[in-house]
Amino acid sequence: MGDLIDLAAHGDAFRTDPHPVYAELRARGPVHRVLLPPPEGYETWLVVGYEEARAALADPRLSKDASRIGITPLDQELIGPYLLVVDPPRHTRLRSLVTRAFTARRVEELRPRVQRITDDLLDAMLPLGRADLVESLAFPLPITVICELLGVPELDRAGFRALSTEVVAPTSTQSGNDAVARLGTYLTELIEDKRRTGPGDDLLGALIGTTTEDGDRLSPEELRGMAYLLLIAGHETTVNLITNGVHALLTHPAQLAALRADMTLLDGAVEEMLRWEGPVENATFRYAAEPLEIAGTRIEAGEPVMIGLTAGDRDDARYPDAHRFDIRRDPRGHLAFGHGIHYCLGAPLARLEARTAIRSLLDRAPDLTLDGSPGDWLPGMLMRGMRSLPVRW
Ligand code: HEM
Repeated sequence: MGDLIDLAAHGDAFRTDPHPVYAELRARGPVHRVLLPPPEGYETWLVVGYEEARAALADPRLSKDASRIGITPLDQELIGPYLLVVDPPRHTRLRSLVTRAFTARRVEELRPRVQRITDDLLDAMLPLGRADLVESLAFPLPITVICELLGVPELDRAGFRALSTEVVAPTSTQSGNDAVARLGTYLTELIEDKRRTGPGDDLLGALIGTTTEDGDRLSPEELRGMAYLLLIAGHETTVNLITNGVHALLTHPAQLAALRADMTLLDGAVEEMLRWEGPVENATFRYAAEPLEIAGTRIEAGEPVMIGLTAGDRDDARYPDAHRFDIRRDPRGHLAFGHGIHYCLGAPLARLEARTAIRSLLDRAPDLTLDGSPGDWLPGMLMRGMRSLPVRW
C-alpha cells in the first residue's frame, strides 16, 4: 500500500486546478490512499486511472448503501433513500419507477421550452454588453427547466438556489447539513401540497401517481428522496457544463474559431467539454462491501472509495494527449455521466440544455470574449465549476 497523500497540502491551487495533482498521482499508480481537504477532511481511497475508474463504477462489490457498513448519512436520515445511496434490488426498483415517469418523450417535449427559455435569457442579457454568464444564462436555464419539469413554483426558486449549491459544495459541514435539513422540510411541504391540490401533469405529479403492474409505488420517503436528487442533480451539474464549456472555448480561440466555422461540430464539442472539464469531479462515495483489490491494491470491507471522473477522463492511456482540449477528437466513453447502473438519468436533458445554450450564445454573440478572470472554483471534491464567469461581446 502506498503512503497517505494529504490533498490539502496543495492548498487553494488544488481547488482551482486539480488536474496536475491527479496527473502526478496517475503517474504513480491508478489507486491512492488520500486525506481529503476540508470541509470533507477524512481518509478515503481515490481511483485516478481511466480503466480502473470505469471498472470500479460498475463493480457490484462497491456498494452505495452506507448502512451496510453501519453508517447512516445525514441526508438519508432527513430526506429518505434515493438512487445514489441504494444498491440492487432497491436501486433497480426505484430506477424503474422513475424511468416510467421521466421518459425520453418527456425530455423531447421539453426541446421547444428549452429553446424559448434560452432565447428569453439571451434577450435580457445581450443588450447589456457584458455579464456574468453564470448569473445570466448557465444557472437560470437548468434551474428553470428542472423546476418546470418537476412542478416547483416560480416563487420558491430564488431561495432554492442557495440551498442546493450549499448541499453539493458546502462551505462548512454545518452549513451543508443545515441546507439538507431545510430542503427536506421544503420538499415535504411541496409534496403534501401536490397531493392536496391534485398532482397535475408535471414529473413530480407523475411520480406520485406512478404504479407498476404489480401495484408497486414510491413510499412518501422515496418520493421525497427522488425529488431531492432530481432537483439537486438537475440544478448543480448542467450549470457547470455550460460554464466550464464556454470557458474552455474562450480560453482556446482556435477551437472556438473551428466551431464557429462549422457548427455541425457542436455535439462533439459538448462531449469534449464533458471529458475535458466535466461538472462532476468525483463520483459519489462507494464502500467496499467485501475485501477487494483494485490494480493490486487491497481495499478492506467497509472502506470508502472515491472514483475520479475528471481524473480518469484526463488519462493519457485512454485519450492521447488527454490534457489538450480538442473538439475534433473522439471523446466517446468519457466518465462525466458515470457508468454502470448509476449512469446519469438526466444525461439526455443535460445534453439538450448545453447544446441549446451554447449554440444560441455563439450565434447571437459573435464576438464573445472573457471579461476578466472567472470567480472562485467551487469547494469540495464533488463539483467542478466556477462561481462566476464574466464575459463581454
Ligand atoms: C451535465 C450535467 C450532468 C452531469 C455531468 C451529471 C453527472 C452524473 C453522474 C456522474 C452520475 C453518477 C454518480 C455516481 O455514480 O456516483 C449521475 C447520476 C444521476 N444523475 Fe446526473 N448529471 C448531470 C445532469 C443531470 C440532470 C439534468 C438530471 C435530472 C434531471 C440528473 C439526474 C441524475 C440522477 C437521478 C442520477 C442517479 C442515477 C442512479 O443512481 O441510478 N443528472 N449524474
